[in-house]
Amino acid sequence: MRIAILSGNPKTDGLNQTMIQAVIAGAAAAGAEVEEIRLQELKLLRCQVCGDGWGTCLQDRRCQFGADGFTDTAECLLQADALVLATPVYWGEMSETLKCFLDRLRRCQRGQDGALAGKQVLLLANPGGGGGGQISCLQEMERFCQHVGLIIFDTIGARRWTLDYQRQAAFAAARALASGRQNGDTVIIEE
Ligand SMILES: Cc1cc2nc3c(=O)[nH]c(=O)nc-3n(C[C@H](O)[C@H](O)[C@H](O)COP(=O)(O)O)c2cc1C
Repeated sequence: MRIAILSGNPKTDGLNQTMIQAVIAGAAAAGAEVEEIRLQELKLLRCQVCGDGWGTCLQDRRCQFGADGFTDTAECLLQADALVLATPVYWGEMSETLKCFLDRLRRCQRGQDGALAGKQVLLLANPGGGGGGQISCLQEMERFCQHVGLIIFDTIGARRWTLDYQRQAAFAAARALASGRQNGDTVIIEE
């Protein structure tokens, strides 16, 4: 099982990275191969909104500016068995780096016949600070998933005062995802 984590976290420490490390550890505990893609380090273009709204993304499912690293990054996601999208909550939305990347990816992989359709995804949206805006951020992420046919496995997010148990939830969710559990399965707990 290959898990790709697409991270819009600009920082390498702090609450968001603690949650991402928990996901990495959980997936590894299930024997998965895990790759964390840190968008902050790639300095990718935003969508150039070619032509009258569509470019090569319409006919070819390809971004004509993809040599900036977009195409290679997208390929990592396409090769993965399951995905994790991770972001801090900024202004009740996902981070700008993640939004810019997903705006381009959505164009190329839109619809149920796109290469992402049917893959499972774990959504991680950490409001960290005041705690507001997590729901609207997750709604934005959910809309992306609908546009490309990703199946949401679970949604998780930590605030400053919930990090202890949300970190455990992130570990457990990633382990379950990486062990092959499917959205719709029923978990039986033996007391
Ligand atoms: C530009 C910006 C906007 C933010 N907007 C929100 C917000 O809407 N709601 C919230 O609870 N926290 C907000 N925060 C706080 C971040 O979500 C918080 O810093 C982060 O999740 C804490 O994790 P960290 O230790 O990884 O930085 C914002 C932070 C920044 C920098």
